[in-house]
Amino acid sequence: MNDIRIDKQRLWDSLMEMGEIGGTEKGGCCRLALTDLDKQGRDLFVKWCEEAGCSITVDKMGNIFARRPGQDDSLPPVAVGSHLDTQPTGGKFDGVFGVLAGLEIFRTLNERGIETRTPLETVMWTNEEGSRFPPAMVSSGVFAGAFDLDYGLSRADLDGKTMGEELERIGYAGSAEVGGRPFKAFFEAHIEQGPILEDEGKQIGVVTDAQGQRWYEITLTGQESHAGPTPMPSRRDALLGAARIVDMVNRIGMDNQPNACATVGLMQVFPNSRNVIPGQVFFTVDFRHPDAEVLEAMDAALREGAVRIAEDIGLEMDFEQIWYSPPVPFDEDCVASVRKAAEALGLSHREMVSGAGHDACYIARVAPTSMIFVPCEKGISHNELERADADDLAAGCNVLLQAVLERAQA
Ligand code: GLV
Ligand code: MN
Ligand code: MN
Repeated sequence: MNDIRIDKQRLWDSLMEMGEIGGTEKGGCCRLALTDLDKQGRDLFVKWCEEAGCSITVDKMGNIFARRPGQDDSLPPVAVGSHLDTQPTGGKFDGVFGVLAGLEIFRTLNERGIETRTPLETVMWTNEEGSRFPPAMVSSGVFAGAFDLDYGLSRADLDGKTMGEELERIGYAGSAEVGGRPFKAFFEAHIEQGPILEDEGKQIGVVTDAQGQRWYEITLTGQESHAGPTPMPSRRDALLGAARIVDMVNRIGMDNQPNACATVGLMQVFPNSRNVIPGQVFFTVDFRHPDAEVLEAMDAALREGAVRIAEDIGLEMDFEQIWYSPPVPFDEDCVASVRKAAEALGLSHREMVSGAGHDACYIARVAPTSMIFVPCEKGISHNELERADADDLAAGCNVLLQAVLERAQA
């Protein structure tokens, strides 16, 4: 084991400086994909990478590749990275840690004058969250061939603005083709976003798998009418249908414990007036499970139950599964590199399955890939209260550095 270690304070300071862009009063961050704030975050990342001697490539999905040359620059790079976009009430660490950990590795190697045999790349993937432009991980998905470029660029927000238009507007519609860029290996460092590591007092999660996800969009249409004169038995209340489906979604999640997750996180009620019976409701469903068969059974239960509820209330229903991301087993050799690095550094660790989606899930289709988790306070994430400890972040970054060095020399 070498004695190269990253600079904990420098990593922390960079996270805090990035967190000021879109920083919220509660100490979180709101930097939605392809907004002016996202542009500012990207500009800062590019500036830091250029100062660290990297060349920058931006592809047509706005993915940014910061490259540190290798002794043999014709070899495929060992790549690391994550995302800089956040949820509307997000934190300073989700995604940002994985990107700035890559930069911190470059800074550390530069300081020591260390060259690697293969080049290294730190990648910032566009719109991982899928909050403004569903689905999640769309740009790493285009990179990995899960979606075509037109699909990626035409994803639209609730105002109808597309990713293509917004990439042009903020100046990050790059010219490089998306994909066809081989990586020797890809590692994503991330906060756990759940409570397991903290509860067990472990510092490093050796991530072996990621669970699958299905995302749905449902529109129920009834009839808006007056809240006073319309008798209860003759109403076609779209929100009542949505409420029953929300309850059913929760029940499907509870029926498939210990591992299922089932969430309705977005709802729009039309016309949203207190004395009008709601005529139309649009909402989303997010199902997750590590086993594809259980996820399929949850899908069947949702479809069957939603039809029944809509019929009972006399509603029309438009039901669409907009995204399926199957469970992902990560590459055994990459997982072993992470485990070996944690052991060599004397860090407490355990194997785990990722509950969240990550760009690594798509990159695993085109390169040997795995992930490194560090604890976050009380397991809270997608929340302005998201916190991580500087020592844990440094530990995760050191594991990343060792795993990268092992791969980049081999
Ligand atoms: C991405 O943050 C997800 O929803 O898993
Ligand atoms: Mn993330
Ligand atoms: Mn996230």
